[in-house]
Amino acid sequence: MAGTRIALIGCGFIGTVHGAALMALRDGSLIDAEVVATCDIDGARAKSLGELCGASFVTSDPGCAIDAAEAVWICTPTSNHADLVHRVAAAGRALYLEKPLAPDLRAAEEISKAVQAAGIPNQVGLVLRSSPPVAALAELISQASLPTGEDLGVPMAAVLRDDQFFPIQGMYQSRWRSQVSVSGGGTLIEHSIHDIDMLLWLFGKASSLTARKANHAGYPGIEDVATVTLTHESGVISTLASVWHAILTRPSTRRLEIFTSDAMCVLKDEMAGPIRLQTSSGELEIGMPKEAVAVISRLAAPEPLKLSLLAYAMADMAFLTALSTGAPPEPGIDVGLEAHRVVDAAYRSAAAGGAPRSL
Ligand SMILES: NC(=O)c1ccc[n+]([C@@H]2O[C@H](COP(=O)([O-])OP(=O)(O)OC[C@H]3O[C@@H](n4cnc5c(N)ncnc54)[C@H](O)[C@@H]3O)[C@@H](O)[C@H]2O)c1
Repeated sequence: MAGTRIALIGCGFIGTVHGAALMALRDGSLIDAEVVATCDIDGARAKSLGELCGASFVTSDPGCAIDAAEAVWICTPTSNHADLVHRVAAAGRALYLEKPLAPDLRAAEEISKAVQAAGIPNQVGLVLRSSPPVAALAELISQASLPTGEDLGVPMAAVLRDDQFFPIQGMYQSRWRSQVSVSGGGTLIEHSIHDIDMLLWLFGKASSLTARKANHAGYPGIEDVATVTLTHESGVISTLASVWHAILTRPSTRRLEIFTSDAMCVLKDEMAGPIRLQTSSGELEIGMPKEAVAVISRLAAPEPLKLSLLAYAMADMAFLTALSTGAPPEPGIDVGLEAHRVVDAAYRSAAAGGAPRSL
């Protein structure tokens, strides 16, 4: 068997997304890797993903899966990450760890320490960085001048709306997101840790924040509304509104609006784009970057699935490429930990009625 040997531990929603992305990449000759093992405490899930990926080992024992592989994807509910990370680290395997690292900051710090001490290659599942429209936006706002030839001006403010239906239904075939001991919290840590990371990536380190949260659905400790306003060292002020609602026609979407002194950029959908750019001279639409179009054309997946798989496929491909070249994979565990620090500060601010917190 050729290529990097992969084990997928946790064969639920996101384990299946990674399995499908890895198959689409492999069958499109975009990676040289094989899923050799699938592991889940639910035997039927391990079997079903094992069949999809053509895995030789289908098991409920993570130890067997780790032994069989060179690189391990941990896709179990958040409270199970620590134990599995320690096992992967002890075996010296490369680690792809789903976000959040853990249900709270202290556990995330311990995971990070264990991974750094083991010196294993590691990447975290903060996939908005791998989404081509988001990456294109990051590039756009890092340039002094725009594709129109005009100045970008001074970055000033951003507003991010992230909403999805309460994720214990529909494509989410599990209920642990309503249990604080497993998830660590609600929409802020479980879902919008992605958003916090994206805002830090786009606008740089934050120096302070204020946050509020609310719980309408009534699951103890599980906020279904969170707002966070970050003041970045760059001077940008960004605001996130994160909502879990009951609108079953809205599975998950984000809309990001960025103002600089001379331009407004709107990202209408974080996975599909497009970006609309408005300046004093008019409006312009920016579509998928050429490199992403090339990957999409080669992904061996049904056309309607390609855009939903794309960010995961880009992240998986980047991880495998880093393993084969020896470059440090990105975003690594340090990036995941920084997002946890900001999320933790946001919870503390919200608990104090929105009191400002320095970071
Ligand atoms: N990066 C992303 O965009 C993204 C999206 C969804 C979920 N996630 C994260 O991925 C993780 C899993 O989420 P999900 O939606 O796939 O959950 P899920 O409930 O759909 O799947 C988790 C699977 O793990 C299995 N499992 C539990 N404990 C196990 C163990 N010790 N060993 C082996 N299998 C075990 C469960 O039986 C289940 O099948 C969570 O941390 C979540 O926050 C990330």
